[in-house]
Amino acid sequence: MAHDDPAPSQKRITAIYPGSFDPFTNGHLDLVQRGIRLVDRLIIGILRNDQKEALFSVDERIAMATDVVGGIPNVEVATFDGLLVEFAARSGASVIIRGIRAISDYEYELQMALMNRRLRPDIETVFLLAGEAHSFISSRLVKEVIRLGGNISGLVPPSVEGRLRKRLLGEHQ
Ligand code: PNS
Repeated sequence: MAHDDPAPSQKRITAIYPGSFDPFTNGHLDLVQRGIRLVDRLIIGILRNDQKEALFSVDERIAMATDVVGGIPNVEVATFDGLLVEFAARSGASVIIRGIRAISDYEYELQMALMNRRLRPDIETVFLLAGEAHSFISSRLVKEVIRLGGNISGLVPPSVEGRLRKRLLGEHQ
C-alpha cells in the first residue's frame, strides 16, 4: 500500500454504474442493490448524446431512475457526456460497475473494460452477475414486448411501466 493511501477501513469507495437506462428496468435495480452493498457511494451515470435513438429524453430517464432509487441511501443519479472514465475521475470514483447477464454480453463488456483500463488504469471495472430472475431483461426487449402488446409487469418498476404504456401505447394513467 502506498504511504498516502488511507487504511482500508477508512477508504471510501465511489462507483459509477453507467448506461443508457432507456428505460430503467428491474435488472438495473437489481444491479444497483447488489452494487451498493460493495461500495460506499454509487452513482448511476446516464449517458447524454448517445448515438442510439432513445425512446425517453435524458431528463425523463433521470426522473425514472430517481423515482426508483430515490429511497436507497448513498445512491445518486447523474448524467455524463464524453468519456466514461473522465466522468468517473471527476466524480471521485475508482470503480465502474457493469452487469453481465449472459456470455453474449461478455465480449462487448470486455472490450469496453480494457479500453477504459487503457485510458485510466487507476479505475477498475467490476462485473456483477445479474440475478437469475433478471438475466433475460433488457431495455430493448422490454420496449419491443410492450409495443407488441405483451405483458411486462415485473420486468420494470411500476412507474416505468406507466411511462412506457403512455409513450408507446398512448394510454393515459
Ligand atoms: O447501457 P449501455 O448502452 O450498454 O451503456 C453503454 C455505456 C454508456 C456504458 C458506454 O457507451 C459508454 O461508456 N459510453 C461513454 C463513451 C466512452 O467512454 N467510450 C469509450 C469507452 S469504451
